[in-house]
Amino acid sequence: MMPVSPGNSIAQLVSGAAREAKEATVATIAFDPAVYKETTREQWQQAADAWHRWGPTIEAWLGESTQVMLDLAEIGPGNWVLDLATGAGEPALTIAERVGSTGHVLATDIAPNILAFAAQAAADRGLTNLETRVMDGERLEVPDESFDVVTSRVGLIYFPDQQGALAETRRVLKPGGRVAAIVYTTPERNPFFSIPVGIIRRRANLPPPAPGQPGPFSLGAEGVLSAAFERAGFQEVRTAIVPSPLRLASAAECVRFERESFGALHQMLSGLAEPEREAAWDEIARELAQFEGPDGFAGPCEMIVGVGTKQG
Ligand SMILES: C[S@@+](CC[C@H](N)C(=O)[O-])C[C@H]1O[C@@H](n2cnc3c(N)ncnc32)[C@H](O)[C@@H]1O
Repeated sequence: MMPVSPGNSIAQLVSGAAREAKEATVATIAFDPAVYKETTREQWQQAADAWHRWGPTIEAWLGESTQVMLDLAEIGPGNWVLDLATGAGEPALTIAERVGSTGHVLATDIAPNILAFAAQAAADRGLTNLETRVMDGERLEVPDESFDVVTSRVGLIYFPDQQGALAETRRVLKPGGRVAAIVYTTPERNPFFSIPVGIIRRRANLPPPAPGQPGPFSLGAEGVLSAAFERAGFQEVRTAIVPSPLRLASAAECVRFERESFGALHQMLSGLAEPEREAAWDEIARELAQFEGPDGFAGPCEMIVGVGTKQG
């Protein structure tokens, strides 16, 4: 979902390489992490309002996996929790309620516009134990061993240096502290998102994502999230698969949700002229209609929740 290229590097798109994608092979296209990160930030700056507006839909969709993450990470009263890529507020707000007045949540994101919604929501709920700070999830500006838990919900997948971010995460956790993340599984298990990506990729002649590059499905294949945690030195790694169908009134509503909030799709479409973009959205609407039934739209989606421990 997201203002990040679904498996394709945004850097490829903005560096001009994508304009030559018709001729290029994947091997000839360089991935530039700095450009990717800046483009990602800018996408979320622009998508901030939409992501906030669609908040109730997002919570209905990701609420269950969020509860699984908080339980597996054993987040409880008095914990200090660092949330990476907080976006418009969740799961940091729910965590702040759970850790209570003796706990503390530092909610961080690279895009100030979207994080402003988190700060406002915390104020509206009277949560004085939640602080927001603009921060790159790969460069944690906090002391060593200062948090009990570090969380990230559909955030880590968009970091160009996921392994570096996990090393930083380990640094800032207290001994015995836990890392916890929610990520998508595979394109096959998430057609509500991979169908639009596939249609746009074909119509815009974009190359498939290269291995190791960020994107929604970058940690989703079997064993990949666990291996990343273990490589960063975490132990007792556990994962849980959480079916998370995206339920909306109709397929048209899903298209509206993705059109407004999934900036990555816009980014991928940027090389097409307006009529071609409309044609792509029309095809997406037709394809997503297969998930519409008498009870509305239920787009297949599956999440993995992963948790690991920093041994003392
Ligand atoms: C799909 S949203 C998820 C937001 C929220 N966690 C949620 O579940 O609703 C992805 C978020 O990742 C943030 N993000 C992307 N790259 C980042 C980075 N390198 N450091 C911090 N945040 C980043 C974006 O700004 C965006 O808010």
